[in-house]
Amino acid sequence: MNSVADEVLLQTSGLTLRFGAIQAADGIDFTLHAGEHLAVIGANGAGKTTFINICTGYIKPTSGTVVFAGRDITRKGPRQITRLGIGRSFQLPQLFLEHTVQECLQLASVARSRKISRWVPLAQNADGRAVAEMLELVELVSCRNDPASVLPEGHRKLLDVAIALMLEPRLMIMDEPTSGVASEDKHAVMRTIMAALRQRNVTSWFVEHDIDIVLAYATRVAAWIDGRVAADGEPQAVFADPTIRREVLGER
Ligand SMILES: Nc1ncnc2c1ncn2[C@@H]1O[C@H](COP(=O)(O)OP(=O)(O)O)[C@@H](O)[C@H]1O
Ligand SMILES: [Mg+2]
Repeated sequence: MNSVADEVLLQTSGLTLRFGAIQAADGIDFTLHAGEHLAVIGANGAGKTTFINICTGYIKPTSGTVVFAGRDITRKGPRQITRLGIGRSFQLPQLFLEHTVQECLQLASVARSRKISRWVPLAQNADGRAVAEMLELVELVSCRNDPASVLPEGHRKLLDVAIALMLEPRLMIMDEPTSGVASEDKHAVMRTIMAALRQRNVTSWFVEHDIDIVLAYATRVAAWIDGRVAADGEPQAVFADPTIRREVLGER
C-alpha cells in the first residue's frame, strides 16, 4: 500500500443477487482502498465474476449498494462507470480483431476524447503521443502493426488491459488476466501488466487461480465461497487458513 492507502476507493454494502436457486452474491460487504492490488480467488461458480459484473454495471443487484470514489454507482451502466474511472479487462479479451494493435489504441484514444468521426482518419484524431507511450508501457511496440487477430493470447491480454488504461481509470478490474496464456508466459504477462498499473498509479483487483502469481503480485487476497467473502487479508494469512486450503485450494 502507498501513501493514499487509507482512501476508500470502492465499497459495497449488502450486495445480494440470486439466480434461481443460486445465491451468486450473498450480502457482500467489501472495501477496497486506493493503492491496493487485490487478488480474488475461489472455485468456479463461487461468484467472482458476478461480483465484478455488479460493480461494473453489467448486472443489477437485488439489493445493496456499490460506492466508487464517494459516488453511488449501483444503478449506473457500464459506459458511465467506465467514464467514472473503473477499467475492466475480460477473461476473453474484447478486441477489435480486424484492427492492428496501434489502431485499437487509437480507437480507445478517440473514444476517450469523444472525437470519433467517420470522416477524419483515426490516426489524425487520436492522441499519438498517448498511444506511443501506451505501446511502450505494455511492451507491444514491436507488434504495433499486427492485426489483433494474430496476436498470441498473452499479447491479447496486454492489449485488452492497454485499451482499458487509455481511458485513465483509477481502478482496473481484471477477470483472470492469465487464463489461456501459455504457462511459461503467465509471469511475464502479469509482470508487464502490474508494472504498467503501478506506473500509472492504478489500483487493481484481479481474479487469479495460480497461487504463485497471487503471491508475487497481490498486496491482499479475498477468497470467495458460495457468493460470500470467506477470507480476506494478507496473502500468506489467507493461504494459511484451513477453510480456504480445504474449500478453495482443494486440499484434503
Ligand atoms: N447470467 C446468469 N444466469 C444464471 N446463473 C448465473 C448467471 N451468471 C452466473 N450464474 C451462476 O452464478 C454462480 C456464480 O457464477 P460466477 O460469478 O460466474 O462464478 P465465478 O466467476 O466465481 O466462476 C454460478 O453458479 C453460475 O452458474
Ligand atoms: Mg468467473
